[in-house]
Amino acid sequence: MNVVIVDDTPTNLQLMSGLVQRLDGCRPLLFADSGSGLWWCLEHDPDLIIVDYMMPSPNGLEFIRQVRREPRHADLPILMVSADHEKQVRYAALDEGATDFLNKPVDGVEFLARARNMLALRRSQLALAGRALTLAEEVRRAVADIHDRERETIIRLARAAEYRDPETGSHILRMTQYTELIAARLGLPKDFQEMLLHAAPMHDIGKLGTPDHILLKPGRHTPEEFEIMRRHTLIGYEILKESSSRAIQLAASIALHHHEKFDGSGYPRALAGEAIPIEGRIAAVADVFDALTSERPYKSVWSLEDAAAYLRDHRGRHFDPACVDAFFDCWGGVLEIGHRFDGA
Ligand code: C2E
Ligand code: SIN
Ligand code: FE
Ligand code: FE
Repeated sequence: MNVVIVDDTPTNLQLMSGLVQRLDGCRPLLFADSGSGLWWCLEHDPDLIIVDYMMPSPNGLEFIRQVRREPRHADLPILMVSADHEKQVRYAALDEGATDFLNKPVDGVEFLARARNMLALRRSQLALAGRALTLAEEVRRAVADIHDRERETIIRLARAAEYRDPETGSHILRMTQYTELIAARLGLPKDFQEMLLHAAPMHDIGKLGTPDHILLKPGRHTPEEFEIMRRHTLIGYEILKESSSRAIQLAASIALHHHEKFDGSGYPRALAGEAIPIEGRIAAVADVFDALTSERPYKSVWSLEDAAAYLRDHRGRHFDPACVDAFFDCWGGVLEIGHRFDGA
């Protein structure tokens, strides 16, 4: 324990120093010059300050005021040494934040008793602070655990859907990476971009509810079949909606909106323009580009050029122009993602 003693009278300093040395585990730090003492206290971590009142500037009151201005020292025990009859000084010292007083001239027994009390107070403060730190660390770990588990749940849900979807995992991964690319280029917040990575893989989770003979049909759908196929957006939304997880809320919105079109000709609700949430407009570009450049039971692979031409032709019709532009601005990244997940 660092016990700082500030007193401009050398004999007092010597006397109190000798007393402090009799306390277990205490190291006296002596300052005859209150300015130097103050500087030391602001730069270091004293455990107890004993400060005389009557000194050349800063006097005891100013000293305490300066120390208390340091947030670290808000609860630090400070004893002020003053004569018992200096009532006004004592009241002022209480206002500045003195913890207790020592009578002048210093009496050894009283000094030791009060110093011991103050140090006991200090020890319990330190123990409490330590406990608070441990608690904060435990909370942090628990929250990280919850996040990990939430992520795991999302991945398992997406995996369940993959079992029924004729599309392979690498299609979903590519589509997801494209959404992040577009969101980054649009300057959307970093945590939104990150949530997209968890949410976008579930955009077609509603296909779990599409009958096999429609989902897996080797040829084109009849209008009646397509009508049923379209329900995958609403089914996905029903599966994911009302979650307390922000990532799953985002996934619900993507499931619901990824087949809306910018000109209002999409489904399920024929929303137009900015009435379609941004995540839906982003997912539409990523999803269609991925579908076109992939093999499907009902269509063959399109070349990158043809797929790019399709996005350009339907800019402002099927797609939000800003999302198409962002996608082409990142063309290098698009090609890189195409190569990286080229396993299907
Ligand atoms: P998907 O195969 O992943 O296709 C996603 C979206 O990409 C389609 O949404 C469509 O906007 C676009 N797309 C895919 N292939 C083509 C294409 O050859 N030409 C053009 N112009 N656009 C294409 P859409 O049409 O709402 O379809 C949603 C999902 O319904 C498709 O996901 C697929 O799973 C299924 N689907 C749609 N039409 C057929 C079909 O004729 N036969 C079968 N078996 N499934 C279909
Ligand atoms: C959502 O946007 O995910 C909520 C459903 C709605 O658009 O009505
Ligand atoms: Fe879809
Ligand atoms: Fe899709």
